[in-house]
This record gives sequence, C-alpha cells and structure tokens, in this order.
Amino acid sequence: MRVATIVGARPQFIKAAPLSAALEEAGHEELLIHTGQHYDASMSEVFFRELPIREPDVNLEVGSGLPGNQVAEVLSRTEAVLLAEQSDVVVVYGDTNSTLGGALAARKAGRPLAHVEAGLRSWNRGMPEEENRVLTDHASDLLLCPTPTAVENLEREGLSERALHVGDTMHDAVRQFLPTARSQSPILGDLGLEPGGYFLATIHRNYNTDDPVVLGRLVQALASLDLPVVFPVHPRTRKNLAIQADSADGAARIRAIEPTSYLDTLVLQAEARAVLTDSGGMQKEALFVGTPCITLRPETEWVETVESGWNVLAGSDPERILAAVQGLEKPTRKPDVFGDGYAARKIVAALVLLADDEGSA
Ligand code: UD1
Repeated sequence: MRVATIVGARPQFIKAAPLSAALEEAGHEELLIHTGQHYDASMSEVFFRELPIREPDVNLEVGSGLPGNQVAEVLSRTEAVLLAEQSDVVVVYGDTNSTLGGALAARKAGRPLAHVEAGLRSWNRGMPEEENRVLTDHASDLLLCPTPTAVENLEREGLSERALHVGDTMHDAVRQFLPTARSQSPILGDLGLEPGGYFLATIHRNYNTDDPVVLGRLVQALASLDLPVVFPVHPRTRKNLAIQADSADGAARIRAIEPTSYLDTLVLQAEARAVLTDSGGMQKEALFVGTPCITLRPETEWVETVESGWNVLAGSDPERILAAVQGLEKPTRKPDVFGDGYAARKIVAALVLLADDEGSA
C-alpha cells in the first residue's frame, strides 16, 4: 500500500509521527506532502529532526494568507501532486486549513480519504477549526476517531458507518517519546527551572490572540500567578504580544521564549505545576503526563479531560483563571478513553482495508 500523508501545521507532525513509523514497520510506502502552512524552523523543521516522521517528499510552500486562500492554495497544489503521484489512500490529520485543503484535493483527485482525529466537536461554529473538522469529516471515506465521544458525535451527523474508534495517535506519541524526552531534553536546566516550580502557558487561538483586549487580559492573568510562567510564544501571538507583555504588572514572571521542540514541550508539561493553554493537543498531553490543565477557552472538544477532573475550562477571564489555579487538584485516575497507545497500528489495518475496498470497487 502507498499512503499519501498531508501535513502542514505543528500538531500534525506530532500526530503523523506514530503512523509514519507504523507504516514503515509494516512495510508500506508513504508519500509525505508538507503544505508549508507552518514554515518557521521552530514550528516545522525541528519536529522532522526529533521524530520518526519521514522527511517531506514535497513541500508545497503555501505559507500564510487569508484562510480561504490558504485552503485554496493547499487544494490546488495538493491536487497536482496527487494526480502526478500514485497513492492508494490519502490521510489528513486534525482540523487545520491544511486538513481541509488536503481533504478537498483527495476528493477532486478521486482518492479514498481517511481522517485521523475525526469526530471532534467544540460545537462552536465560529472557530475556523470547527468548520474544518465538520467539512473534512463529511468529505472522508474513513473516520478514525480518538475517543468514543467522537464516534457518538459522528453518529449524530449520520456518519457512523464510516467511523471507527482507534484511539489517539498523540497518546501513542507520548507513550513512545516521553522516556526519551526525560533522558535527553536539557530544557529545565537551560531555563533554570525546578520540577513543580513553574507554570507552562501557550496561547494561539485567533479569538485569544487577535483582540488586544483579550490577549492583554490573558497576559495580565499569567503575570499575576505566584510562580514563574514559561511561555513559548506561537508566531501568531508574537505579532500581537509586545505591547501587552511590556505593560503587564508582574511581567517579569513571564518567561516568553521561542516555540519549543516536542521533546522539550513534553518535559515542560510533565514537570509543570499546571499547564495553562488554549491548545487542543496540550489538554490531552497534560493528562497523559499527569499534570493538571487549565484551558483558556470557553469550551473544549476533549470533554473527557474535564469530566475526569484533569482539566478546568477558564476562558480568558482573569478571575476564573486565578480561581482555577487556586483550586488546582490532581485526580488519582486517568480516563482510558484515548486508547492503549497503539492507535497507529489499528489505523494501518483500517487503511489496508480501505485501500483493498477501493482497489476491488
Ligand atoms: C493553525 C491551525 C490550528 C492549530 C495551530 C497550531 C488553522 C485554521 N489553524 O493555527 O488549528 O492548532 O495551527 O499551531 O489551520 N506563522 C508564522 N510562522 C509559522 C507559522 C505561522 O509566522 O511558522 C504566522 C502566519 O504568518 C500567520 C499566523 O502565524 O499570520 C497564523 O498562522 P496559521 O497557519 O494561519 O494558523 P495558526 O494560528 O498557526
């Protein structure tokens, strides 16, 4: 089987790494298409160095732009590659503009399409990621779900026949790479941090970064915490941050740094007092490594992290964020809904069936 993988944004390199390794292990071929949505070395290159994901066979260099334009560029450039290159199935990941553009390209090129991390819903259609998820799920032939909740969400939309619960490849990645991260990452020493002696924060959602009032309140809340806050700054956030960070009371406690590598991020999460984030992936990673999370969003797709007590939704209101920090608790049990850490193997088996079905159709 030859699988065309489409990735383009930071979380997709991490989600794709376990599947890339499992495909190779099982003797399948992979054509790796990087859309170029993320292009800074710290947002892209570093993950290909650290993780067992193959180097991109093609980089479409789509770069930044208006969302519709970004999707259109991914669509037209990916379609050309898919038409020129043989592949049995196409795989897209998550909910970015690269996901949707890649999914549309697979459809237009007439290739069977599988969506990894299908069925997630925030029920907030104002989020670009929610639009991308819904449209990609409805375009896909095979919906590979990380949790039973995701399968239920797809049932409600009449998509259950295409849905399969395989578990979460981000769980696979933590299982595979946390021991390496602990033994190899120098990040705590480099930043002079003690385990449990700092918070880790990330902010990149457009509704948190693009309104200066909202971003200012978030920075103010971080600055008022009683431990240093390590803050790897996403490029979207960097563009809008300077004024906010300089003017916040207590800003000295915020350690704004470049985006960190995957291994450094795992260690920073594992040893933090808590993670404060609007990232989807980090809400789960915090749970996987056993650190409580405070989510800087009003809602989440990963409801199991909240129901199990590992995650608290605080939005962008400083009072709610401070109350969540003061009430931090670490549950004793982790929910087992994210699979057993071997989702990638199940995905390979499902892709083989999809390729066979299409081949005999
Ligand atoms: C994207 C995804 C989001 C995902 C996030 C992870 C969409 C709609 N959103 O958001 O789901 O959680 O990635 O990071 O696809 N930029 C740089 N350098 C880079 C990458 C981006 O400067 O390497 C700048 C771009 O110029 C742009 C801004 O960051 O102005 C936002 O980038 P974009 O790719 O549109 O979305 P993200 O915010 O990264």
